[in-house]
Amino acid sequence: MYSVAVLGATGIVGQRFVSLLAEHPYFELTAVAASERSAGKRYAEAVNWCIEGEIPENVRDMVVRNITPSEVRADIVFSALPSEVAKKVEPEFAEAGAVVASNASAYRMEGDVPLLIPEVNPEHLDMIEVQRERRGWDGAIITNPNCSTIIGVLTLKPLMDAFGVEEVVVSTMQALSGAGYSGVPGMSILDNLLPYIPKEEEKIETETRKILGTFNGSEVEFAEVRVSASCTRVPVLEGHAEAVFVRTSREAEPGEVAEVMRRFRAKPQELKLPTAPEHPLIVREEHNRPQPRFDRNAGGGMSVTVGRVRRDGVMGVKYFCLGHNTIRGAAGASVLNAELMHRLGVL
Ligand SMILES: NC(=O)c1ccc[n+]([C@@H]2O[C@H](COP(=O)([O-])OP(=O)(O)OC[C@H]3O[C@@H](n4cnc5c(N)ncnc54)[C@H](OP(=O)(O)O)[C@@H]3O)[C@@H](O)[C@H]2O)c1
Repeated sequence: MYSVAVLGATGIVGQRFVSLLAEHPYFELTAVAASERSAGKRYAEAVNWCIEGEIPENVRDMVVRNITPSEVRADIVFSALPSEVAKKVEPEFAEAGAVVASNASAYRMEGDVPLLIPEVNPEHLDMIEVQRERRGWDGAIITNPNCSTIIGVLTLKPLMDAFGVEEVVVSTMQALSGAGYSGVPGMSILDNLLPYIPKEEEKIETETRKILGTFNGSEVEFAEVRVSASCTRVPVLEGHAEAVFVRTSREAEPGEVAEVMRRFRAKPQELKLPTAPEHPLIVREEHNRPQPRFDRNAGGGMSVTVGRVRRDGVMGVKYFCLGHNTIRGAAGASVLNAELMHRLGVL
């Protein structure tokens, strides 16, 4: 068993971590940490628990710690911190010898930091050796992509392998929980939608090219795929939806696209990692699916559901997809990264 801690444990993503890690076959949750507003309180007192289910019994009475390596000692540190805080503290933990599995964007695009989706680019974990050598750390930082990026790229990977992907246009409809607990006021979003999410479009456009790129032993050669994103916030609690339009290199019939998505399996499924869904992609035939309320919890929140796969007169093929933003798009993604690292002997 590895000892693990959650940084930012009282936030939306932090709560998901607590819920996924409370009873985990490889990891023992030994510490929770948050800002000085919460430090020193019992977890149950400090947190405004807002996800389904109860606060796990073994975590309720843990005392929330400050975010410093001297107060939080663990083999793996799962980070659900705001990016500007992560930027400062994540290297301190890596230097102190912990493996930091981060949700924050602070280090995602660094040349020696893996931006990992275990089904898509497990070989990018080799970057850790370069990172340790360059930075002189015993620990490491690995990151998972932005929530919308993960959901979209999972659907693109089988298309890339089967047909090649040249251009992608994506329009997202993103849930409120993606903005954090106090991210979007109710007055702004009820009976409404917001046509702008700061930095989100840039993240999707650049992260996709890194994840689908090739690690050549010293750096990632970005994939030659052009991506254009338009992002909106909608009054849904959990579950990001995306309308995706793809120009493939080789012509692809909608039926073939659906088939390669259905058949898609990768390393996490082969290794039967505890958090890996049996089907990373679920393709539905109904015209009215996927929908957030019905499909976000597919595969324990780790499967992405695809529907309405059809021909597009401009780009070639188009479809609609949906995934759970705080599970597959955040905490579940980090936990799966750490499970993969354990099974590949990288921890
Ligand atoms: N929500 C999503 O779907 C999603 C998806 C992917 C990635 N992410 C990323 O994950 C991270 C967390 O997001 P979230 O949605 O969970 O945010 P959140 O609900 O606002 O939670 C933020 C957490 O960080 C702590 N924190 C805030 N300021 C701090 C400081 N100065 N020092 C120490 N701790 C501090 C908070 O502790 P207190 O409660 O004590 O204030 C809380 O535990 C962000 O980087 C976000 O971009 C989120």
